[in-house]
Amino acid sequence: MQDQRLKDFLKEFIISDSQLHEVYKRFTTEIQNGLSLATRKQADIKCYMTYIQDLPTGDEKGNYLALDLGGTNFRVLHVSLKGHHEAEIESKVFVVDKELMTGHGTQLFDHIANCLAEFVNEYSLNNQHLPLGFTFSFPCVQLGLTKALLVRWTKGFNCAGSVQEDVGRLLKEAIARRGDLEINVMAILNDTTGTLMSCAHRNPECRIGVIVGTGCNACYVERVENAELLESEYKVDKTHIIVNTEWGAFGESGKLEFVRTDYDRTIDKASLNVGSQLLEKMISGMYLGELVRLVLADAISENLIFSRTSDKQSLINTLRENVCCFEARFISEIENDNFPDFQQTRTILKELFAMEKASVEDCQKLRYICECISRRAANLVAVGISSLINRIAEPHVVVGVDGSVYRLHPHFDAYMRETMRKLVNPKITFDLMLSEDGSGRGAALVAAVASKN
Ligand code: BGC
Repeated sequence: MQDQRLKDFLKEFIISDSQLHEVYKRFTTEIQNGLSLATRKQADIKCYMTYIQDLPTGDEKGNYLALDLGGTNFRVLHVSLKGHHEAEIESKVFVVDKELMTGHGTQLFDHIANCLAEFVNEYSLNNQHLPLGFTFSFPCVQLGLTKALLVRWTKGFNCAGSVQEDVGRLLKEAIARRGDLEINVMAILNDTTGTLMSCAHRNPECRIGVIVGTGCNACYVERVENAELLESEYKVDKTHIIVNTEWGAFGESGKLEFVRTDYDRTIDKASLNVGSQLLEKMISGMYLGELVRLVLADAISENLIFSRTSDKQSLINTLRENVCCFEARFISEIENDNFPDFQQTRTILKELFAMEKASVEDCQKLRYICECISRRAANLVAVGISSLINRIAEPHVVVGVDGSVYRLHPHFDAYMRETMRKLVNPKITFDLMLSEDGSGRGAALVAAVASKN
């Protein structure tokens, strides 16, 4: 892409090496602050204890149920762990519509219990008393494996009456209200923990679990002596604990202002959780498409792209008036497209604007806009992962990664690795591994590991 004016316009999305190192420094301090009793109150990154202290060995066996709430879909799963690092999974996706996502918590949990009942009936699992792992992908203060107080809703959720409540209790009460289910809730976990457990099940060198999907977050294996919040009884027999960083909250006390743009501020202001999850809002699938939508509208009005289109104003209006019309998956499709045909890009332009003919140059420009925004996101994820790898400081660290953005974007992994090579201590080698059904298999593994203790 040669157009200097468009390049200048997008400059604020390009993180320079010195900015990258500064974000890295601030992020690393914030993790330390989250772990230390004296500083954690003010820390953006809270580093929650998960109470999971064992990684799987691969020998785990047995049948489990899992619930997965907080990503693109709500799912109920039946997981059979087979030993020898193997698992078989049956699952069903259920719709959680916007009304449920922003209604009362009781309705949401009743819906979850209803879906669970439908699933166990369909698969004839009800009289088996199966242990259940609940992957609940929102920030929680855990008071043990089955007690988790919801700190705040994130992403598109905002249900009344549930913040500060124990989501384990809310689930059990909803199950009891039905009166026909025999379920044993064994563990509540975050999707990052599920990802870490699921990857460690296959590769024992896995120490970090990352999600780059609708939301963004990571967990990692910390030494118990560094986890100041952890009660001493958990430090006697075990050397490590999985910490759920909730890094998506980074930036809430202003530490990212030097790299945030007015577009990021606009997105935050229009969100369900103003002022919260500021790092997440620069990275995750829920917001990436919105960033492109806003940038594209301005770029058109500045005559930087589609300047020869006869009805420019109608393109601008379409973009400004239709919140969320530019989906994150479009970014992946556009960056995956072939020069000079740009077939997928043209399909998207037709869908969005009924545009019949776009020039090759305009397609290249649109791709450049997408690339600047996704590369910035990947750089920020790389900062977080690099910081955790250096903190773990083992000679080789494997990172399990999942989430729609990471999975679908053709270059996200490459962008991340490029930046990680700049930040990870050169004495440490690392690898990124795509997780296979972390939220299902991971939930079963947590339940399995928990029942061993
Ligand atoms: C939540 C995390 C979750 C992440 C990815 C964030 O919004 O706060 O708990 O791990 O999304 O799903």
